[in-house]
Amino acid sequence: MHDEIEIRAERPEERLATESLVREAFWNVYRPGCLEHFVLHEFRSRPEFCPALNLLLIRHGEIIGQAMYVKNVLRTSSQEELPILTLGPICIHPAHQRKGFGKLLLDQSLVLAAETEAVGVFLEGNVGFYGKSGFVVASTMGVHYMDEPADEPVPYFLGKELKEGVLQGLPMQYRVPEGYFVDEKLAEEFDRQFPPKERLRLPGQLFSGA
Ligand SMILES: CC(C)(COP(=O)(O)OP(=O)(O)OC[C@H]1O[C@@H](n2cnc3c(N)ncnc32)[C@H](O)[C@@H]1OP(=O)(O)O)[C@@H](O)C(=O)NCCC(=O)NCCS
Repeated sequence: MHDEIEIRAERPEERLATESLVREAFWNVYRPGCLEHFVLHEFRSRPEFCPALNLLLIRHGEIIGQAMYVKNVLRTSSQEELPILTLGPICIHPAHQRKGFGKLLLDQSLVLAAETEAVGVFLEGNVGFYGKSGFVVASTMGVHYMDEPADEPVPYFLGKELKEGVLQGLPMQYRVPEGYFVDEKLAEEFDRQFPPKERLRLPGQLFSGA
């Protein structure tokens, strides 16, 4: 199953192919169409982007998976900062999903993430997938999402420690990096360079779209 697989950083000439993959994987999953390929595109020129952690999973020479991390911080109530990473988007091409490639990519990316100064990785996602790689609901680690009250856990906000014991104890606040909030009109314009795809409203989507 995992023969001929390479996980490595994206090369400049692979940018468009990666964006096409991200578009295929996220299209109509969380909203009609998707923004994730534009998010990746925009992040590449931001200082918090980590090129060494902008990873591809290549199987038999074909890019079938992608994962990116950005630098972020957790803040204590006294505004002390701890370096962390935010993960996402991460995806596997729809033709290759549920065959273990996502977990393989996630686990390998976490090994590389652990070599940085970051003390943990945080993301918004489904604990059904990330839980198998050691992620837990972040509020159980004392880490709270944006301005949500500390006593109202956000079940999709997940975290994993990279440096043992560092996060225990103090309550910390997490903020979603600004780069994830892209302009939907600009995203639509960006999307026009790709082959047309129908935007559908489907059950289970989190956002209704424009
Ligand atoms: C989510 C995604 C990256 C998972 O990759 P994958 O290769 O399909 O997943 P894997 O086969 O490695 O799954 C690993 C484990 O997670 C579980 N899992 C995978 N996707 C899941 C999902 N969407 N919900 C719940 N559990 C999931 C699987 O059951 C599997 O465990 P098991 O095989 O022991 O049962 C992939 O399906 C994808 O690209 N989805 C669309 C984009 C997306 O939603 N990305 C994540 C954004 S948070």
